[in-house]
Amino acid sequence: MLKQVTKQLVIQSVRGFATTKQNNFKVTVCGASGGIGQPLSLLLKNNPLVSNLALYDIVHTPGVAADLSHIDTQSTTEGHMGADQLGKALKNADVVVIPAGVPRKPGMTRDDLFNVNAGIIRDIANEISKSCPKALVAIITNPVNTCVPIAAEILKKAGVYDPKRLFGVSTLDVVRARAFIGAALGVNPQQVDIPVIGGHSGVTILPIISQCQPAFKGDQATIEKLTVRIQEAGTEVVKAKAGAGSATLSMAYAGARFAGSLLKGLNGEKGVVECSYVQSDITEATFFSTPLILGKNGLQENLGLPKLNDFEKKLLAAALPELKKNIQKGIEFANA
Ligand code: NAI
Repeated sequence: MLKQVTKQLVIQSVRGFATTKQNNFKVTVCGASGGIGQPLSLLLKNNPLVSNLALYDIVHTPGVAADLSHIDTQSTTEGHMGADQLGKALKNADVVVIPAGVPRKPGMTRDDLFNVNAGIIRDIANEISKSCPKALVAIITNPVNTCVPIAAEILKKAGVYDPKRLFGVSTLDVVRARAFIGAALGVNPQQVDIPVIGGHSGVTILPIISQCQPAFKGDQATIEKLTVRIQEAGTEVVKAKAGAGSATLSMAYAGARFAGSLLKGLNGEKGVVECSYVQSDITEATFFSTPLILGKNGLQENLGLPKLNDFEKKLLAAALPELKKNIQKGIEFANA
């Protein structure tokens, strides 16, 4: 009897294996022991497209990896700790997700994190150029507006920069917009479709409410209030956490969604669209988030600016000088 049951299980698992899609992607999380890194790694451990999850941090990764490795999903989990293990963690990664670095405390802007986080991104980008130059790289670390140009410059210096493979993660802005609009309209947030473009800080976050599906119903004052709430949602969490950090759980959800979309694109799935902060010639800011189609080589097609109304055009005009300043700061840092 027992023998029969075992045999059946084997057959089932063999059948299951035969019908699963390609799932042999290596994903490396840099900053895996942190407030975002741990729940993000948990969600990635559950992604069937991941076969190998490599966790890198300067602390605690053996413990986080041991813990995750007891989850009964197909992927293997590795923990790498300390700068001398970064190369091994990144070796041949298909996707690298980076939430490494310090988060905000009340009263801080994302730009205040620059002094610590810029150097972290520089060092990780440098190692990516050697260990996995073809990887799709998703930067969560703030200030995203500046960290992405830093990574681009470092990869350029190493001669491996491909603008189709470097992304700033602004997915949380989209996730928040969907949550707030879903609640306001009384619909399932999962059914809300709204582009959030620009960058990832204050006035550079541009929710394009005029293009929301289903249509957002509200007067101009309500739309302006909602816009500011989406732009300042990160600060709402920082204040509520009262010194214990910034958004971690919602960011892990958003980061796992974005990494999952990169993997779907790599796996040949069609019609995968995400807004993300990438090198861009859509506006005068050389990095800018717009809806993108993701494919086997990362960014397949930039869908460009959605249609903007007059209010949104004003928001864009206010965002561009700030974005350009943020980008310039990154370029200067990387070339200093
Ligand atoms: P945290 O402090 O909880 O975790 C950061 C982790 O990075 C720690 O485990 C730390 O040991 C690690 N770390 C520090 N230096 C490192 C290095 N050189 N190499 C590898 N790992 C290193 O911070 P949390 O809350 O996880 O936030 C991480 C970053 O994500 C912050 O910069 C934060 O501002 C940003 N963030 C971005 C969002 C976005 O929408 N893009 C939203 C929320 C936060």
